[in-house]
Order: sequence, then C-alpha cells, then structure tokens
Amino acid sequence: MNATEHMIRRAIRLAMTGRGRVEPNPMVGCVLARDGRVIGEGYHTHFGGPHAEPQALADCMARGESPAGATAYVTLEPCCHVRKKTPPCAPRLIEAKIAKVVLGCLDPNPAVNGNGVAMLRAAGIDVSRVDPALEAECKQLIAPFLLRTCCRRPYVTLKWAETADGKIAGPGGSRLQITGEPANQLVHLLRSRSDAIMVGVNTVLADDPQLTARGVEHSRLHTRIILDSKLRAPANARIFLASGEKERTIIFHSPAAAANPPADERISRLLNAGAQLILRGENPNDRLSLTDVFEHSLLSDLSDLMVEPGPAVAQSFFESGLAHRLWIFRSARRVNDDSAPSAIKVPSEYVVTGHMKIGDDVLTEYLDTKSDAFFAAVPSADFVLAAEALM
Ligand SMILES: NC(=O)c1ccc[n+]([C@@H]2O[C@H](COP(=O)([O-])OP(=O)(O)OC[C@H]3O[C@@H](n4cnc5c(N)ncnc54)[C@H](OP(=O)(O)O)[C@@H]3O)[C@@H](O)[C@H]2O)c1
Repeated sequence: MNATEHMIRRAIRLAMTGRGRVEPNPMVGCVLARDGRVIGEGYHTHFGGPHAEPQALADCMARGESPAGATAYVTLEPCCHVRKKTPPCAPRLIEAKIAKVVLGCLDPNPAVNGNGVAMLRAAGIDVSRVDPALEAECKQLIAPFLLRTCCRRPYVTLKWAETADGKIAGPGGSRLQITGEPANQLVHLLRSRSDAIMVGVNTVLADDPQLTARGVEHSRLHTRIILDSKLRAPANARIFLASGEKERTIIFHSPAAAANPPADERISRLLNAGAQLILRGENPNDRLSLTDVFEHSLLSDLSDLMVEPGPAVAQSFFESGLAHRLWIFRSARRVNDDSAPSAIKVPSEYVVTGHMKIGDDVLTEYLDTKSDAFFAAVPSADFVLAAEALM
C-alpha cells in the first residue's frame, strides 16, 4: 500500500465513525500529514456539527503541531459554499497554509462540485486526486448521499434471517426466532441508523412486530412503512404503538383497498390508531407498484431505508432493482418442515462484500453491482463498525 492509499484509507475509516449521526450529510474523514507522519485527523461527527477538515486542524493544533506546509488527505472535496450550518472548509485549509490536498472524490452537490478544488488551486494549493479504484471506495462510503443527490431516492437495505435449511419462518409460516441475541442487537443498531423501516403486510399479520430500535444509544428512526394494498393491517397491531409526534406509521395502499369491505370502517380504525394512509398505483401483478411508492415525496426525503421483507416483498424489490444492499443472517438451526416458507434466492448481480460470525449466526453483506449506488465491492461502514465491535 503506498502512502496516499494508507492515508486515504485512514481517512475513510475515520469518516465511518460518524455513521448514523451525520446523515443526511455524507460521512467525511480528513488526515493531515507531513513527511509521512500524521499530525492531525478528524471526521464529520454529526449533522450540523463541524466538518472533517476543521476537526483535523483543531486536532493538529491540540497536538502542538503546525498545519503549515502539510498535506491534507480528505475523502470528499472540501466545501466552499456559504448559507449552510457550518463555515466552508476550503478557506480554512487555505488560512492554515496547507500545501497539498489529496482528494478521495468530488462533491456532487452543485454548490461545490469542482468549485472547492478551484478555490484551493486559486490559492496556490497543489490538489491531486486518488486513483480510480480508491476514488470508487470513497464514493461507496457515501453511496446514500450520492444517490440522494443525483436521484432523490433512499439507499435501501434488505435484511432478513434464514435457517440453515433456508427457511424464514416456522411450519406453516408460524413465528420463529431465527437468530440469537448478538445478531438481534445488531439489527436494532442498523434500524437506529435508518430513517425508516418498511415491511409487507403479511409480516405484520404473522409476526406483529414493533419495528422500533431498542437498546441503542441514539436513534434516527422516525418512520415505519407497511405495504398493504387492501388495508389488511389490524388497527391493534403493535407497529402502531410507537406512532406519535416523533415517529409515524405510514400505510401505502392501492385502489384495491376500497374494494375490500368494510373499507370505511377499517380506514377510520387505522386512522384512529395513528396511521397515515397513502394511496398509490398497482403493478401488473395487482400489487402496490414500488416504483410509484418510491416516487412519493415521503420516500424521496429519506436517506436510509431498511426493509425487513418476507419473500414476496424481497421478490418485488429485486424485480424493481430498488435494493442496494442485503444483510442476510444465517443461523445454524434447522426447521426441517416443508410447510415453512423458504427464503428467496439472492440474484446473481449481488456481490458479497463480507461475512461475519456474530454469536452463533453468520451475517453476509451483499451489494447490487447493477445499481446506481454501486461503485466498489467493499464492506459498508455498518459492516466495518459491526466487525470491529466484535473484535
Ligand atoms: N426471517 C425473516 O427475517 C423474516 C422477515 C420478514 C418476514 N418474515 C416472514 O415472512 C412471512 C411473510 O412473508 P410474505 O412473503 O408472505 O409477506 P411479506 O413480504 O411480509 O408481505 C407481502 C405482502 O405485502 C403486500 N404487498 C404490497 N405491495 C407489495 C409488493 N409490491 N410486493 C410484494 N408484496 C406487496 C402484499 O399483500 P397485499 O396484496 O394484501 O397488499 C403481499 O402479500 C412471515 O411468515 C414472516 O414471519 C421473515
């Protein structure tokens, strides 16, 4: 590994520390070095908080070092625009007399895109870019931010658990706890870093899940979504218990709901339970059209969406090409019953980016190589942080 790669990888790892707190901003890391020695480092810690570059400069001063003449390795182009929560970073690097900036990738935000580089160069700073493979890793780090900026869509993770014989529930679809406590805790952590969780109505009917993030320090989760064409979700389902001012439960339904009497009565019970109902179109299979659902402003305002699908919803996501990442937990237990529903097969376009043993279960992460949020087959920040926590 050459020096640039070493420093940028260190900056990538630093950036990951902000996961779950910086969104909808991107995770960013910065390392200041002179003669191959790190003299300061920092990362964007939380939304509205200082960016990576001023954090690294402050760290440099705290170490009693001077940033003058140093090289700054940053995973993302330093910002140069005003009218935002924090002052721009490019002028800070210029004031600190940084000699060279090595960039992981450009910022797609039109207010920055190339302007940060131009401002640095105009001040006489030598700006260089990393090689394309490393740039792809820097982009993968911020895939949800890139996707949101370019396409106004959330980064979607499908998560499910399956037994050693490929079953996702017990005999006849009965409720079954497949994974152990360490894996369950990790799922709550992943939920806490998501804006929203989505399920199909059959999961509500079969498992009555709460879909909350429990046992976590900090949670961003504010929305639960049910795909329920005919409004079959019962108003006393536990998913509605957490509905309130801070957390909401949305049901997407289709015109089929009106043809499923007594529709008015069910609608008023669901509204009383705190649900918001949104009508969307159907796909050719008479199910809610996911494309239509994802065009709703509620979805385009999200950065991270976690879906906990049964096979039917997983199939629809694969068919629509809307799932960017899979987290599949495989346990050692077996059901040994043909009436238990089987997990859907992972399509061939998904590449494995990591395996991790967690308690008695194994987590495998996959990324969709065909998606517009795929840049490099590297483990996500969530996966890296989880693996480190287990060490
Ligand atoms: N092991 C795990 O990690 C895990 C995770 C989740 C669920 N499960 C299990 O999975 C089983 C349920 O699986 P499932 O496949 O029957 O149901 P599901 O995926 O939970 O829900 C499917 C239902 O969602 C509704 N839906 C609305 N729009 C849809 C769309 N575009 N695509 C697909 N479905 C859409 C449909 O009902 P309408 O036509 O009425 O709208 C459909 O029947 C349960 O036994 C549950 O315990 C296991």
